[in-house]
Amino acid sequence: MGTMCSKPTARPHDVILRDAQPADVPILFAFENDPAWREMAMVKHRSAAVFHAAWAKIFQGWAAGATDVVQKVILADGETCGTIGCHLQGGRHIVGYGLGQSYWGRGIASRALELFLPEVPQRPLYATAAATNIASIRVLTKHGFTIVEARSVLESARCLPRDELTLMLA
Ligand SMILES: CC(C)(COP(=O)(O)OP(=O)(O)OC[C@H]1O[C@@H](n2cnc3c(N)ncnc32)[C@H](O)[C@@H]1OP(=O)(O)O)[C@@H](O)C(=O)NCCC(=O)NCCS
Repeated sequence: MGTMCSKPTARPHDVILRDAQPADVPILFAFENDPAWREMAMVKHRSAAVFHAAWAKIFQGWAAGATDVVQKVILADGETCGTIGCHLQGGRHIVGYGLGQSYWGRGIASRALELFLPEVPQRPLYATAAATNIASIRVLTKHGFTIVEARSVLESARCLPRDELTLMLA
């Protein structure tokens, strides 16, 4: 924080979503490669190579006609500020998102989810959040998600051990 970008503004940001592109990946990596970002999401560090490989798989899937992953870049006032997406995992459509730290606390994720939900017709939608991630839980509940499960989860390939909530939009 402390940059010009982190100052709250009274004016709502002009938020749009567009399909992610390979050129977005380095900036998205920079957002995630931030200890504060990972602490909030309670996820583990991913190397640039692992991060790029995960995105390459998405782009290859799209090139082959796959539709099970939707991944958008969030632009606020024309600036790339994060990503939001939905993927199929264990038979569930899971929504996830994240913004660069300098964009937090300005209503951008709330607006991005509002724009995103009509783009994914599948229901129910699910999301998981660390129980400590009050902002993310609030983003979801503002848009009709309700908490359907609370549990302690062990460390996984992606996540730190954590108390985790599962939320669902019916
Ligand atoms: C979680 C995250 C996406 C929230 O994005 P954001 O744009 O800051 O959220 P918004 O500004 O839309 O705020 C949503 C709500 O949370 C509240 N909020 C925001 N930051 C908060 C914080 N640090 N603590 C408590 N509440 C907070 C806001 O007041 C708002 O509630 P309101 O509408 O009742 O006022 C963002 O912090 C982020 O990218 N974090 C790192 C990655 C991550 O955690 N992703 C989600 C994994 S489940």
